[in-house]
Amino acid sequence: MELSPKLAAKFEQLQGRYPVKRSALIPMLMYAQDEYGYVTDEMVEEIARRLELRTVQVEETLAFYSMLHRKPIGKHHVQVCTNVACMLRGGNELLEHAKKRLEIGHKETTPDGMFSLEEVECIGACTGAPAIQVNYDFYENLTVRSFDRILEELDKGKKPAPVPVITGALHERNKLETPLISKKWGIKDSHKIDVALQHGAYQALEKALKQMEAGQIIDEVKKSNLRGRGGAGFPTGMKWSFVPKDSPKPKYVICNADESEPGTCKDRPLMEMDPHQLIEGIIIAGRAIDAHHGFIYIRGEYRYVLDIVDVAIEEAYSRGYLGKNILGSGFDFDLVIHTGAGAYECGEESALMESLEGKRGNPRIKPPFPAVVGLYGCPTIINNVETLSSVPSIILEGGEAYANRGTPKNGGTRLLCVAGHVNKPGIYEIPLGMNMKKFIEEVAGGVRGGS
Ligand SMILES: Cc1cc2nc3c(=O)[nH]c(=O)nc-3n(C[C@H](O)[C@H](O)[C@H](O)COP(=O)(O)O)c2cc1C
Repeated sequence: MELSPKLAAKFEQLQGRYPVKRSALIPMLMYAQDEYGYVTDEMVEEIARRLELRTVQVEETLAFYSMLHRKPIGKHHVQVCTNVACMLRGGNELLEHAKKRLEIGHKETTPDGMFSLEEVECIGACTGAPAIQVNYDFYENLTVRSFDRILEELDKGKKPAPVPVITGALHERNKLETPLISKKWGIKDSHKIDVALQHGAYQALEKALKQMEAGQIIDEVKKSNLRGRGGAGFPTGMKWSFVPKDSPKPKYVICNADESEPGTCKDRPLMEMDPHQLIEGIIIAGRAIDAHHGFIYIRGEYRYVLDIVDVAIEEAYSRGYLGKNILGSGFDFDLVIHTGAGAYECGEESALMESLEGKRGNPRIKPPFPAVVGLYGCPTIINNVETLSSVPSIILEGGEAYANRGTPKNGGTRLLCVAGHVNKPGIYEIPLGMNMKKFIEEVAGGVRGGS
């Protein structure tokens, strides 16, 4: 099959990225779909051939993912979120309006092929509810009128400006906030390496590589009382210490950027506005467990965020923070960002690893746990974006100081996403232990309508 030069180059890049070929499957399908509008029969055969799979293996995998289509959809695929935060702010009304205006229902396409419509689960835009996505573009804080304007412009062949990238998540800081991992938010071009370096990026990495042994890094993280920010709250230092030191197999670090839990939209701005903090945290984690490869698994809906992080990874390579002999320390580390394709379940760590291996996102039976048998059957630590973004601060200020910001059993600060019926929806960084009523009333502006 003849591919466009752009797609052929992307395929080559993806095929060379992974220790196991099949891992490239889902990203290849996503990028092929971007070009053809859906996954064609010829494309299934082409990808199967390139990855040495049977076509049925490609078919059964792609059928699992909601963002992959085997039939043409509209040129503009309008996805209306009706999950909790959007529902509380008019998402259902917006969906009903969209159905009437486009004269189509859920998963249908207009006869001219211009628009298709889909009611979707949480897209990670909760503080901008009600929100929609058109193809990969986010539009937030919508009304029926602003929704109509977007459709009118698209109809005329124009592209309405999506949510401002980089500043989309910003709101006024509250005096009760204690910005630590969000401290670069709002600084112009904070995602770019030169700006990040001016604000202290990669100093923790330098310290970790030049002044600390792997065991000391783990001890410092243990002292910090950092607990996983992905939901289960497992102590991070303890998780890292479970990785067997004597294993002859390669070890891996995975950053879980699947962020699909309704109401959760904090990893998106962390990656948008401070990708270097995350990259730094991942490399330090790699150093702590003696891993030399890392992956960021990002939900398919966050394509523009993937592009930002991808550029940041390239910048880090070009300045010697990734790759061989980092900062002259003798430590090597490679990092890849990998797209999901629409599957809530892939946020669960074992399903995520299946997906990263190019399979359906079915959870694995535990034990064994990933620290011992993880990606490709090798020892793996998997942590959330916010967890890994907290690591540079811990290394710089010390575990104890970090721990003292929070409660005795849960150190540091947290990003809280508050959306729905509050006066000031937003993503606020507060010390752990703040009273929730105080938070809602004094930080989030109280419940709407004085309730
Ligand atoms: C159904 C389900 C969905 C999950 N989704 C996410 C997710 O989107 N992001 C995330 O970081 N963790 C998610 N988790 C938790 C992960 O399985 C895992 O505990 C986490 O990535 C570990 O990182 P942490 O220790 O830094 O929290 C999910 C768990 C379940 C059971």
